[in-house]
Amino acid sequence: MNVYVFAVVTPRAVPSPSYSLKNLEGHGRIDVIFRCALAALRRPSNVPSSEFYAYFTKGEGYLHLTPDQYDYNLEDEISLAHKIKEKWHDLWFNCSFDHFLRRLPQTEAAVLTEKGTNIGQLKTIPHLFFLGAQQDIPVELLPKIKARYPKPIEVSLGNKPLLASQAIMLTRMYIQNKSSTQ
Ligand SMILES: C[S@@+](CC[C@H](N)C(=O)[O-])C[C@H]1O[C@@H](n2cnc3c(N)ncnc32)[C@H](O)[C@@H]1O
Repeated sequence: MNVYVFAVVTPRAVPSPSYSLKNLEGHGRIDVIFRCALAALRRPSNVPSSEFYAYFTKGEGYLHLTPDQYDYNLEDEISLAHKIKEKWHDLWFNCSFDHFLRRLPQTEAAVLTEKGTNIGQLKTIPHLFFLGAQQDIPVELLPKIKARYPKPIEVSLGNKPLLASQAIMLTRMYIQNKSSTQ
């Protein structure tokens, strides 16, 4: 599998397309989710492609974006928000967190956290990365991830706290460097 999957968990963003493009922040900071999507899906030619999921705990459901849906290199967060607003019902899936986990690929998984093993020390690159948006992944969901992925690795990008979109970009840069030296 050469696709890398980023699964962001947001406890704050409001799971509906009723946001105003002039005030994405007022929708539980859904702007953070669109920035994360762009960080995961913009594709300079030499970076392996990614898929993006955002699980909204407020509404029990997720958005799923794939590399072929839009030309993400041409989008900014407002134009992407506009496109997703129009197609929300095609991109949104209602389900519990347990069902969400079952829809993700069964592969080597990592939870991004400042306290984990430094990414540079990994022997193999996981293909699925979980991370929080604005807040860390709610602690009650971590055992569910561990039940589905018996050995999820906790992976750190350094001891400085990063924005979720920065964490995705740094992870992709790491994947790119690691793939080009193998
Ligand atoms: C904005 S941070 C979460 C906010 C912060 N920890 C808090 O609760 O106030 C978003 C997510 O990015 C990931 N992250 C941030 N800094 C990181 C780092 N240095 N190493 C690995 N992952 C990181 C974590 O998954 C984190 O939940």
